[in-house]
Amino acid sequence: MKNIVIAAGLAVAAVALSQASAADMMALAKSKNCLACHAVDTKLVGPSYKDVAKKYAGKPGAEATLVNAVLHGVSGGWGPVPMPANPQVSPAEAKQLVDWILAMKK
Ligand code: HEC
Repeated sequence: MKNIVIAAGLAVAAVALSQASAADMMALAKSKNCLACHAVDTKLVGPSYKDVAKKYAGKPGAEATLVNAVLHGVSGGWGPVPMPANPQVSPAEAKQLVDWILAMKK
């Protein structure tokens, strides 16, 4: 009985951990102001993150291209509005954010 309770507790902790990391990425995106212009599902000023993931799915070099876009800004890929550079984001944070976005296929 005691073992079952411990196992159940561990399973709950594992679920909480994986949810925390998705929530952490949301919090990071929010704290870096990405969500002022982007949403996961909806086009705002910039494309939805799911649309970005779809466009770059399976493309070699997508991660490096997008890390560069996030850090230095980009224009002409989605419409008339450019994305400004994001100097508040470190290269490591940009890579984390891009990996999170690229995993949103479908
Ligand atoms: C001021 C509004 C604004 C902010 C803030 C912003 N973006 Fe963007 N983002 C855009 C626009 C507009 C585009 C489309 C640019 C284009 O047409 O090439 C874009 C495009 C992108 C793309 C696709 C780039 C490409 O080359 O296809 C990614 C990835 C992205 N943004 C991630 C981020 C992340 C991560 C942050 C936060 C660090 C962020 N954006 C902050 C407006 C913004």
